[in-house]
Amino acid sequence: MIRPTLLIVDDDEDIRTQMKWALAGDYEVVMAGSRTAAVTAFTESRPTATLLDLGLPPHPNDPEEGLAALSGLLVLDRLAKVIVVSGQGDKHNALRAVGAGAYDFLCKPVDMDELRLVLRRCVYVAELEREYRAIQERERPEGFDDMLGASPQMQTVFAFVRKVATTSAPVLILGENGTGKEMVARALHSRSAQRAGPFVPINCNAIPENLLESELFGHEKGSFTGAHALRKGLIEAAAGGTVFLDEIGELPASLQVKLLRYLQEKTFQRVGGRQEIQSDARVVAATNVNLQEAVESGKFREDLYFRLAVLVVTLPPLRDRGDDVVLVAREFLRRYGTQHGKRGLAFAPDAVRALSLHAWSGNIRELQNRVQRAAIMAEGKRVTAGDLELADAGESARPPTLREAREKVEKELVEGALRRHGGKITSAAQELGVSRPTLYELLEKLGIANPH
Ligand SMILES: Nc1ncnc2c1ncn2[C@@H]1O[C@H](COP(=O)(O)OP(=O)(O)OP(=O)(O)O)[C@@H](O)[C@H]1O
Ligand SMILES: [Mg+2]
Repeated sequence: MIRPTLLIVDDDEDIRTQMKWALAGDYEVVMAGSRTAAVTAFTESRPTATLLDLGLPPHPNDPEEGLAALSGLLVLDRLAKVIVVSGQGDKHNALRAVGAGAYDFLCKPVDMDELRLVLRRCVYVAELEREYRAIQERERPEGFDDMLGASPQMQTVFAFVRKVATTSAPVLILGENGTGKEMVARALHSRSAQRAGPFVPINCNAIPENLLESELFGHEKGSFTGAHALRKGLIEAAAGGTVFLDEIGELPASLQVKLLRYLQEKTFQRVGGRQEIQSDARVVAATNVNLQEAVESGKFREDLYFRLAVLVVTLPPLRDRGDDVVLVAREFLRRYGTQHGKRGLAFAPDAVRALSLHAWSGNIRELQNRVQRAAIMAEGKRVTAGDLELADAGESARPPTLREAREKVEKELVEGALRRHGGKITSAAQELGVSRPTLYELLEKLGIANPH
């Protein structure tokens, strides 16, 4: 059985050791002697319960440092279970701590039997809460924050976001245009420890190269013509939060060096400045270009790529999301219906069929635009394939024949494999489990032109 982790925060080494001996049989014990050490240990070990002495250095006789540690831990995880230990006759401060979110309190000298009992109950509650959270997330399988998707591909994306949101490592989001990269970046931020801080997006491609450096890192007064006053850059403005570097593949070479240095040391200099500025902004980057290729062609620094690509998520294009198309379309219809004063709109059966048969691009905006237009155009409550301008009656009015269905699936699989292998026939054939000649035959039969 896995033992729950217990973090003991006390500045007195004897007490820590004594407690560790008494509790190590039932808990994985981690220890810290100060507020900062407590925060670090908490982030690293994610304890089920924390025992926190309120009298911490530099003011062991004053509860303020302990209370600050408590609120620090609760910022990291608002459901953290912290049991505070206060000095004798200091029940007042113990109650303050409970008011601030501590789970329970004990007075010194701590009675070990009482402590064991409180800990056992605390772990029980913590585990119930965790299960409850897991059930809640399972019960909404069709979505995650504002992102919709029940397909296994999207569930993988949501699981990734859940897992990495609380780390501070950079995240790289890959995906074609309009696949939801910015939404993922926002979800990462809203689930991170810095969620109370700012989310600062910047599109590296939209700003001219000569202005981008000052936009990102700021400039000192007089550093160039027109720099009339000191200006903080976006990385500085995102301190305590997240900076979202969109289209990172377009970052000019000179700035790649500067960003790498920031990622390594969390410091940088403003344009025209000498002073080292610090920022703890977490970096989330996105791109729709193949960064690995950009590295190979020397356009993107390899060392920066490796720094950024510790945690990578690839968003599937809409055409690879199966039934999600209909799910997402229904939600858009609800939203736009409400927006245009037409509540209760619903897709007619031919619209549902047309939606699932249409060869969608990767971009969710295409679906969004069609549904919005249809919501406006529809007469009455029924939205038809015609309203969606998907009136391909021949295809959509009847269910597909077995042959059509087979060819559709074959086409998707072959196109997918070619895309994944950059058009390389040999590797695509290998993935598909067919010989090269067979794959060539398939390309011809299905009318696929290998674009690569
Ligand atoms: N899973 C989803 N469910 C519902 N709507 C989505 C989903 N993903 C994206 N969208 C919608 O699609 C649009 C595009 O999303 P977003 O801007 O996040 O994509 P992007 O990948 O950053 O696009 P671009 O490459 O153009 O910058 C937005 O309007 C967003 O609301
Ligand atoms: Mg975007």
